[in-house]
Amino acid sequence: MVKPAIEIKDVSFSYSDFSTRQALDQVKLTIKAGSYVGIVGHTGSGKSTLVSLIDGLIRPTKGTIRVGSVVVGASSSAQELSRLRRHVGYVFQFPEQQLFAENVETDIAFGPTNLGWSAAKVKQAVHDALDLVGLPQTLKSRSPFSLSGGQMRRVAIAGVLAMRPAILILDEPTAGLDAMATHQLMTNIAHLHAQGTTILLITHQMDQVAQYADQVVVMNHGHLVKAAPPQVIFADPNFLVANHLNMPAAVQINHQLGRAGVTLPPTMSMTALADQLVTRLRGRQIE
Ligand SMILES: Nc1ncnc2c1ncn2[C@@H]1O[C@H](COP(=O)(O)OP(=O)(O)OP(=O)(O)O)[C@@H](O)[C@H]1O
Ligand SMILES: [Mg+2]
Repeated sequence: MVKPAIEIKDVSFSYSDFSTRQALDQVKLTIKAGSYVGIVGHTGSGKSTLVSLIDGLIRPTKGTIRVGSVVVGASSSAQELSRLRRHVGYVFQFPEQQLFAENVETDIAFGPTNLGWSAAKVKQAVHDALDLVGLPQTLKSRSPFSLSGGQMRRVAIAGVLAMRPAILILDEPTAGLDAMATHQLMTNIAHLHAQGTTILLITHQMDQVAQYADQVVVMNHGHLVKAAPPQVIFADPNFLVANHLNMPAAVQINHQLGRAGVTLPPTMSMTALADQLVTRLRGRQIE
């Protein structure tokens, strides 16, 4: 099957007919299948609204959204909107709040069962989804409410992955997780991407964007102000300040070193920056 791309054409959206404020204003964006897209911007800039449109949870006030061969616009029916969801899995913020079943297996099986899959196919999907999020199969019989915060988050994500979406949207998936759980989850997401899943990651963590994304979408007051690779986005400090974005740690330290007279090649990776610094210091010792 051809992997679905996403095309957003001149999309505007307003939460109320009476509001003059557009939550999204004339947004244009194309996302190639297999991309890893970081969606960033200050609070209220329109990130969640944008992905809710891609998942067909709301319909655009103007413009069209295409996911694969499905196109929706202002006059699309609820049924047409729901066809977008065939390709898209949306992990909401704090998804563990939506866990409900008496055991992990039933919770993860909920989505695939609703798709009308056979019992054997659902069982396999639950098994695979647990593997994908790095949880042991032995957790199946446990109550989701007896697990740690990081495990609960991963069970909730497994419930979305079990439906095998080609496009996975994650809204702040590591918010509230500790460093270890964050690392595990980001590594799992990178594996899914390596296997061909298109990833749309909403995050306030610029280090995650620098490390994983191949494209960054910057939102500001309902406008899409720039879509470009992270190297381009993070190379312009004035642009970052204007859009209320932090620098990734490696970029920030590199700037500080530059101001102190130590000029190193630009990098977004702490490991690469440390290596460059070690090489420079060794060179000085030899001089
Ligand atoms: N259900 C809603 N009803 C009315 N207005 C809303 C609703 N949801 C969001 N908005 C408004 O739409 C605009 C965009 O909000 P959105 O939630 O898309 O921003 P966001 O970038 O996801 O913010 P955050 O980083 O805080 O999650 C904001 O002005 C917000 O107040
Ligand atoms: Mg949001």
